[in-house]
Amino acid sequence: MTKTTFDAVIIGAGPGGYVAAIRAAQLGFDVALVEKNATLGGTCLNVGCIPSKALLDSSELFAMAAHDFASHGIEVGEPKIDVPRMIARKRKVVEELTRGIAMLMKKNGVTVIRGRARLAGGMRVAVATDDGEIELEARKNILLATGSVPVELPFAPFDGRVVVSSTEALEFDRVPEHLVVVGAGFIGLELGSVWRRLGARVTVVEMLPKLLPMMDDEVSDALTKALRKQGLEFELGAKLEGVRVTNERATVEITKADGTRAAIECDRVLVAVGRRPFAEGLGLEAAGVELDERRRVKIDDEFRTTAPGVSAIGDLVRGPMLAHKAEEEGVAWAEILAGQPGHVNYDAIPGVVYTWPEAAYVGLTEREARERYADAVKVGKFAFAANGRAKAAGEREGFVKVITGPRGRVLGVHIFGPRASELVAEAVLAMEFGGTAEDIARTCHAHPTLSEAVKEAALAAEGRVIHS
Ligand code: NAI
Repeated sequence: MTKTTFDAVIIGAGPGGYVAAIRAAQLGFDVALVEKNATLGGTCLNVGCIPSKALLDSSELFAMAAHDFASHGIEVGEPKIDVPRMIARKRKVVEELTRGIAMLMKKNGVTVIRGRARLAGGMRVAVATDDGEIELEARKNILLATGSVPVELPFAPFDGRVVVSSTEALEFDRVPEHLVVVGAGFIGLELGSVWRRLGARVTVVEMLPKLLPMMDDEVSDALTKALRKQGLEFELGAKLEGVRVTNERATVEITKADGTRAAIECDRVLVAVGRRPFAEGLGLEAAGVELDERRRVKIDDEFRTTAPGVSAIGDLVRGPMLAHKAEEEGVAWAEILAGQPGHVNYDAIPGVVYTWPEAAYVGLTEREARERYADAVKVGKFAFAANGRAKAAGEREGFVKVITGPRGRVLGVHIFGPRASELVAEAVLAMEFGGTAEDIARTCHAHPTLSEAVKEAALAAEGRVIHS
């Protein structure tokens, strides 16, 4: 590589960094994208969103074959799972997608540099490559998009075999006998679901009294009930005291919500208690990039860090640690760099937990809405049990909840049910346009579709539901 000066040097090729690179290239900038890993796509594509969804889909089919096919009149006998084949399929999905990102970089004229980058002062970035260190110079901006890594608990350190993070829980070579999951967050519930569906006993230990505190209470309660019905066991409000590993087994010691001590014997422990920004070796301090009280990179409204010419996005900075949030920030960063009004609407960022049924949300919970808008709040609910498409598919669990405020404006939508991850997009669009429940209610929805449940919940918020 001969060229070392670019308009922008982006560090980290996850959804934040690679999308920023594409948008910047589209806007005419000459971009270098530096990545330490062998493949592009970051945590999301390699060891996060995509592989977990591949396993969720495989295990969902397995569960359907075991429990639901018979009701459709389909006899297949007892299904068997070939874990190595399931994992191989997952790897293929990941490979195809990461190769796709590499192609996108080529197509957009982005220079990809493999190596570990560090800020080297001013507008310079040093990159340790396999062939030695090189130095890059950015004419306009350096963008930090290095993402996050799993939080490790000192009394339950990862050993990569028995006590693992999500990365290894996506690669188990057999179904664990008993998997203890520490943390009932996104990862714990999704990967706990995968291995439970395939036959593992799964116990989830969570320090808070309920699952997913950012979710609407009704959704969180309904999800807890559904997962319990699927056989997941929960120790809510429990304190993890420690994990002892002997040979291939572990003892997880907890203090339960009622104050009694318990020791859970298991063969795998997944610790999923959150992620932390990854900035090791980036040279932030020397470069004058300050962190906030939670050790995230401090930025202003336009993603500028405290070091001139250095910006940051994604899991490194404030806000939810979600791939799509990082992507939006990457686009906004590039547009701001081009003098355009790049903007992210943080009030309309959806969240999805890919359990069965799925739980998806955007905006305020009912409790938050009532705290802010008191009597102006209206809530409309519609159950999938009354939706024709859901009935036909045999997926009638769950509901849509639309929360509106002054002048009927949509403040939040919470969906617990089949394909909630897809249905929430309509709600996000409504909120992005400052829409009302009436706007959703007056929009013609195809029949029969699951999306009619969103329309009916909006109608319910207006007091004129049709099918309930
Ligand atoms: P999380 O923040 O979603 O959940 C962690 C859970 O662990 C919380 O409920 C917390 O109360 C609990 N916890 C913390 N310390 C504990 C302790 N000592 N004992 C017991 N429980 C404890 O974090 P998670 O699941 O690790 O996911 C990390 C990030 O990855 C999240 O920020 C999430 O946004 C993202 N992610 C998103 C997915 C999606 O969009 N579907 C899927 C997977 C991850």
